[in-house]
Amino acid sequence: MSEPEKSEPAKKRRRKLAYHTATVRNAVLTKLPDALMGGRLKARHVAQPIELKELCFASANWPAAFDGLRIAHLSDIHFGHLLGEERLMQAVDAVRAVKADLIAITGDLVDLSAAEAPLLFERLALLKAQLGVFVVLGNHDHLDHPRQIVKCAREAGLTALVDESIRAGGRDGLLVAGIDWSKSIPGCADRLRKCGAGRADLFLAHNPKAFVAAEERGIPLTLSGHTHGGQVARRGNRRHNLVFTQRLSAGHYQRDDAHLYVTNGVGAWFPLRVNCPPEIAVIEMRKR
Ligand SMILES: [Fe+2]
Repeated sequence: MSEPEKSEPAKKRRRKLAYHTATVRNAVLTKLPDALMGGRLKARHVAQPIELKELCFASANWPAAFDGLRIAHLSDIHFGHLLGEERLMQAVDAVRAVKADLIAITGDLVDLSAAEAPLLFERLALLKAQLGVFVVLGNHDHLDHPRQIVKCAREAGLTALVDESIRAGGRDGLLVAGIDWSKSIPGCADRLRKCGAGRADLFLAHNPKAFVAAEERGIPLTLSGHTHGGQVARRGNRRHNLVFTQRLSAGHYQRDDAHLYVTNGVGAWFPLRVNCPPEIAVIEMRKR
């Protein structure tokens, strides 16, 4: 079942309400407690090292020409109050050091305001990979001016995919599809259909719920974020976490030849992580 299309004024009203709700939430749950603790909450949060997670998945559907491709996956930067320029550069330097063939950034680039986008993308423009640097938007990117964020990404030389697909590396290149933020399984499926990619090789979607549509198509690799791994997880079992609205909340999932990786992300909108470190994933894809 498709989601009904909303009119432009209705979208604007919804975005305004979501922006104000997020601003109040940020003030009450993040800025106020941090101020009461003399800045220690934020300082402790950004002092956690960003974990580099090396993974290898194999799929019969992965194109043989790209056997062994290494993808750096980062997500949920939430550039803004909690994650500033210094922390951003730690992530950028970490990604540059792994020398990946392709870099994927799966949304929530800014925390609240599109005004953060020019500086963010000035720094993200330092990321280089042979097959390109790809970006999709998350729900936080929709709080303010999503089009402004897409514009900044493209001006910085990154490939922003908004319900579209592209061959990375030329005519016989890797087919990369990316969808804009959608909160539901049917919404993600609709957006994937709009990409017109047939069966993409690599699928980028902020919401892990998009994997339901991806696995039906046998897309070999889907990369997502959004959940932040639950931020608070049981030691030794990252699936036992505070995300109760997502079946696919953290880590690697596989259905036949379709893989999904849901990253903990780099940043957060709330300054608490327990057994759930910020991370950058480096995924090697093999042809099975
Ligand atoms: Fe996020």
